[in-house]
Amino acid sequence: MGSGRVISWEKGKDGVLLTGGDYRVAIRVWAPGIVNIALCLPGEGEEALSPAVVLRPQAPQVQVEEESDHLLFLTGALYIKVEKENLGLELGDGRGFALQGRGLVIHGKEKRWSFAIRREEHFYGLGEKTGFLDKRGRRYTMWNADCYEAYNEGADTMYASFPLYIGVAPGGSYGVYLDNTFPTFFDLGKTEVHTAAFGCEKGPLNFFFLYGPSLREVVERYTLLTGRMELPPLWALGYHQSRYSYYPQERVLEIAREFRRRGIPCDAVYLDIHYMDGFRVFTFDRERFPDPRGMAETLKGMGFRVVAIVDPGVKVDKDYSVFREGLKRGYFVTDENGLVYTGEVWPGRTCFPDFAQGRVRAWWADLHGELVASGIDGIWNDMNEPTVLDAPGKVMPAHLIHNRDGRRVVHEEFRNVYALHMAMATREGLLKYRPGERPFILTRSGFSGIQRYAALWTGDNRSHWEHLRMSLPMLLNLGLSGVAFAGADLGGFAGDVGEELLIRWTQAGILYPFCRNHSEVDTAPQEPWAFGERCEAICREYIKLRYTLLPYIYNLFYRSARYGWPVLRPLVWEYEGDENVHLLFDEVMLGESLLAAPVCEPGRTVRAVYLPAGTWLDWWSGRPLEGGRYHLAEAPLEKMPLFVKAGSVLPLVGEAVRHTGEIPGRVEFHIFPGGARGEYLYYEDDGCSLDYKKGVYNLYKLSYNLAGEELHLHWEKLYGGFPRGQAEFRVVLRSREGIKTLYLNGRRVEGSLRLPGAPGAGA
Ligand code: GLC
Repeated sequence: MGSGRVISWEKGKDGVLLTGGDYRVAIRVWAPGIVNIALCLPGEGEEALSPAVVLRPQAPQVQVEEESDHLLFLTGALYIKVEKENLGLELGDGRGFALQGRGLVIHGKEKRWSFAIRREEHFYGLGEKTGFLDKRGRRYTMWNADCYEAYNEGADTMYASFPLYIGVAPGGSYGVYLDNTFPTFFDLGKTEVHTAAFGCEKGPLNFFFLYGPSLREVVERYTLLTGRMELPPLWALGYHQSRYSYYPQERVLEIAREFRRRGIPCDAVYLDIHYMDGFRVFTFDRERFPDPRGMAETLKGMGFRVVAIVDPGVKVDKDYSVFREGLKRGYFVTDENGLVYTGEVWPGRTCFPDFAQGRVRAWWADLHGELVASGIDGIWNDMNEPTVLDAPGKVMPAHLIHNRDGRRVVHEEFRNVYALHMAMATREGLLKYRPGERPFILTRSGFSGIQRYAALWTGDNRSHWEHLRMSLPMLLNLGLSGVAFAGADLGGFAGDVGEELLIRWTQAGILYPFCRNHSEVDTAPQEPWAFGERCEAICREYIKLRYTLLPYIYNLFYRSARYGWPVLRPLVWEYEGDENVHLLFDEVMLGESLLAAPVCEPGRTVRAVYLPAGTWLDWWSGRPLEGGRYHLAEAPLEKMPLFVKAGSVLPLVGEAVRHTGEIPGRVEFHIFPGGARGEYLYYEDDGCSLDYKKGVYNLYKLSYNLAGEELHLHWEKLYGGFPRGQAEFRVVLRSREGIKTLYLNGRRVEGSLRLPGAPGAGA
């Protein structure tokens, strides 16, 4: 056990290479606050990075000093001290943040690095894991697998892996991202109570230390390293309705019509596997769906989009062109002798495209042509771990072969990034056949970096109260792991939902960044109207609230695309210094202004709500409440406790809409009372094309300050590149108490307040 002394070291321009008896360790500073530490053992070359990493080293200045027992690096705000004896690392900023390394340990096959757990430290991140918000005291494995049966609080492996943890303690926050696609582990104080360890048996022990010192900076650095999402189409942020499966096509239309007839906003319906001919991907069952194009057009006329499922498995069937082509060209995963591997999935015997190959991805992209021509707007990638129903653990054998464009890679190495590569292919396909339009892809499986391609949903949860409750910390940790666009099946997938659970789940679900109601075949109906009038009325009100909030939510997505910030945030994101919130898992913040405390237990009509320091307004009554303590909030069935930070400015939709297509032109700014000053940065674009990347968007700043009885508003166009933007914005003061006169950009305003938009607005 142990790693042995450092024998020699040499300095390069961005770091050092340390050589010991039988190892080399390269420590390189990639960017301010991002340090790469890579171990190489005999026989291991300089390891390539996984496709999760998109940042390239920026070679910031590093100064190295040698002492008898250690080396000291100085880089920007950080110092890194490396013990020669055991490669113990100490990282710090000399201003309160200090992390003691426990050294590198090589024990048999296992390579492990560890840090001392600090006083009052909590651990977040780790992507999709179940359980509560703080991951301390548990050990996790990163290995993508279907977890239908094992989906519970104590589950370990899940559909998607994010080998990232974040430590938050009073001295400051840091993160570790382990860039290894083989199974890896994170032991956050389980085996050794005071040690956070991570490592692997196979593949490189190549990790990135991500300095904070705030949680926000850690996530910004992590998403700089692994990428940020692109802006999704606005329709993808509406309410979506799904079921395994709606068919035939008349039933799909009927569902859509029900939404319109009942005045419940909705933007998308989903086609689950029954739309296909014998579950053959890229086909339609022509009896069930004689005219998919006609169906999609009718739906579009009603303001609906259609999302269709595409699984990776290709049915073994010599009369099926996708199979024949894939087989002929060597596109499927094989064993070490080149024999195509088959396993059981929905269509029966199935082969699996080898998405490691660029040409397979290009082929797969092309296959989307007909789906798009049939009117499909978005693609839902499922079973993409990939899951094989008749394989042990539903996992295909570890020794199968992928061909990463010439390099043979075993399945054990590629599995965790299989879905990531499939998403790349899907995205290529959507971009090819819907040029200029933003792709929408939903995925079940994934790895760090998946945020660049797809939204992720947390798979086959159950219609159980525990699963409603657990969805919150799961989505919060996904958000801290770079995946802001995530959701859980609203209402629960497996099992039968009941009226109360559907109501409470819809209330919470409208806060999910990805908001879709989905349920399993043969379960009780789960549409908002499934339980009669009371349930329908409450669900309608909350889904409408989602649409009211959409400009605010869309702007959170803009911030996520820009900075990597989560949309749905744990309170610790906003109030890191308040230790009362470090474990809070059942209250969430939607952006910086809204705090929700969903009810996640049956029969509850009141619940305790912690409000952080400051004044908060009850969303429903407008009543102010002082934060910094717990309140008992009334929560009858029709009410989810929801609060807005006093003084906030929120862009909201002023009138009821049926779908996101009706939002343009209806945005107004609401100023909530209680603040002496405030400001809001408002981003606006067409919500559907990729033109924003070329500068076709507008950016405004609305600020205010309250001076005695005068409210001074300042409205500024910071950037104007989208002349088709909203022409004028109404301002709504949610209370005029104590305000006698209004000024806009220095001019007194009588009557209603309107802000000029595009075109010809402002400076
Ligand atoms: C998987 C998916 C689920 C889908 C079903 C049928 O279980 O997780 O969402 O409905 O397969 O396609």
